[in-house]
Amino acid sequence: MSKQDIRGAALITGASTGIGAAYADRLARAGHDLILVARDTGRLGALAARLRGETGVNIDIITADLTDKADLARVESRLADDAAIDILINNAGVALSGPFVEQDLERIDGMIQLNIVSVTRLAHAAAKAFAARDRGAIVNISSVAGLAPELQMAVYGATKAYVTYFTQTLRLQLSPNIQLQAVLPGATRTEIWDRSGHGGADVLDPNMLMELDDLVDAALAGFHQGELITIPSLPDAADFAAYDAARAKLLPNLSRNRSAARYKVGEPA
Ligand SMILES: NC(=O)c1ccc[n+]([C@@H]2O[C@H](COP(=O)([O-])OP(=O)(O)OC[C@H]3O[C@@H](n4cnc5c(N)ncnc54)[C@H](OP(=O)(O)O)[C@@H]3O)[C@@H](O)[C@H]2O)c1
Repeated sequence: MSKQDIRGAALITGASTGIGAAYADRLARAGHDLILVARDTGRLGALAARLRGETGVNIDIITADLTDKADLARVESRLADDAAIDILINNAGVALSGPFVEQDLERIDGMIQLNIVSVTRLAHAAAKAFAARDRGAIVNISSVAGLAPELQMAVYGATKAYVTYFTQTLRLQLSPNIQLQAVLPGATRTEIWDRSGHGGADVLDPNMLMELDDLVDAALAGFHQGELITIPSLPDAADFAAYDAARAKLLPNLSRNRSAARYKVGEPA
């Protein structure tokens, strides 16, 4: 799958439909054995049966609600104990439409559990196992929503800002032999638009909506190019590099022993 030629099995969360199912398809065709995780056993089983038949790879399914601590622990254990696993696709996620104060607090809580807590715990299990073998790959599915408060997806966007930051920081800590990637899709045609209460993908501006296959193929191309941050729709990667450079320019002044002159009341700025 990667520049280092990672040949082992891939564990994919949220594999019953959408982006996770498309990753399952591509990785099976590339010869990877798979472990598919989601809540819907029927859909996982049907996908596994089709891909086994079409590609001959071995596929296990794990039925798990990743917001449930015991279910999540089973998946963590699989990542920790199964030395055949080389790749984690940390993909399962939910979104929520509407203004923050009108959102249901239990659904907000569940979104944080899935989009942040499960992503973190699974990455921890994988990173520890991969560090011991000094090989492996962790792909975290983030979102452009994490870059754009203007989209007004207060908690969803914040969970995705977390995923991007988390991936960038892991890059600084883990061995270069462990490949890391945060994928930041824009709007992509999947069921998330129905499930989140947005009214389905068809209500979106077609010029802003990417088809699922294009999204996953671009994400995999970015992976093969060794990108840390992949924004499939961004025409010029230099634009993200410039954004990141502007952020890095702040670094020398983010922590100092005195406040900035403009905050010194009574003193000239
Ligand atoms: N589509 C977009 O426009 C878009 C844009 C940016 C980022 N993303 C991100 O891409 C990722 C995949 O989204 P998608 O668009 O493919 O969504 P999707 O079509 O709704 O699929 C979500 C997947 O996550 C699984 N899932 C949901 N809740 C779960 C839970 N509690 N435990 C375990 N699995 C759970 C679902 O399976 P079950 O229901 O069977 O559990 C399903 O397989 C998410 O992280 C999302 O935030 C999507």
